[in-house]
Amino acid sequence: MEKINRRSALLAAGAAFAGVVAGTASESEAAFGRRRNSAKPNEQAGQKTQTSGRPTPAGLRFNNEDFYTDGKFNVDKAKDAIIELCRYFKYPIFSDLKDLLWVSDYGTGRFTELGLACIGIVNHDKDKLGQTFMMQDLFLLPGQMLPEHWHIKGDGIAVKNEGWFIRWGKSFIVGIGSPNLPPEIKIPECHMGGTVEVKHGKWVNAGEYAQLAKIESKHWQMAGPEGCILTEVANLHTNSAVRHNDPAINDHFLKN
Ligand SMILES: [Fe+2]
Repeated sequence: MEKINRRSALLAAGAAFAGVVAGTASESEAAFGRRRNSAKPNEQAGQKTQTSGRPTPAGLRFNNEDFYTDGKFNVDKAKDAIIELCRYFKYPIFSDLKDLLWVSDYGTGRFTELGLACIGIVNHDKDKLGQTFMMQDLFLLPGQMLPEHWHIKGDGIAVKNEGWFIRWGKSFIVGIGSPNLPPEIKIPECHMGGTVEVKHGKWVNAGEYAQLAKIESKHWQMAGPEGCILTEVANLHTNSAVRHNDPAINDHFLKN
């Protein structure tokens, strides 16, 4: 079995991105919430049941100002927050976790509201036959939004297809379909003035899996009040083949 070089895998994976959904509500229901029989929601003793998309007193709290130094995004502090999230959920803190983390606020200056952290574990290598898979872990702070985006055909051999297994916390995963955003899901002002295009989604809890039902469709997600750690599986990820709905976010992502 080939040994995975996690450092090189991280560089290959770059950023991470989730998505979901189907063309119709019924398709979407088929794509969402397929619980693995072997997995159970990972609610920890003493924690409140998650019912909204914003932080509760029972969970972690972060101040956006703490992630900026002289107006610049402080990557080190952002990584420390993710480590804190990992400790909260008892995600394994391996020795090079901080080095492996990729974090971004997408240039918004609002990391606690919109951003992402991830570690790439393996990514498709188009030059190696048989390597047609990708896996990475994504980390979202409480109530943090992963911006609306979609995947086009890029440097790889196919358009990205992806799915998400929620390990800790929960995430409201959104894509195409009949609008049904609950009132607790509030789009931050830094994302297209507080707007999105696709508005059909569902809370996906720990132990549940959802996937993109239609390739090339737009999708985004937002963590629940405790945050969320999930594993993303895909055929491949290519940064240059990601497009974001918010023009400023799109420019920032493609230039960084
Ligand atoms: Fe995606």
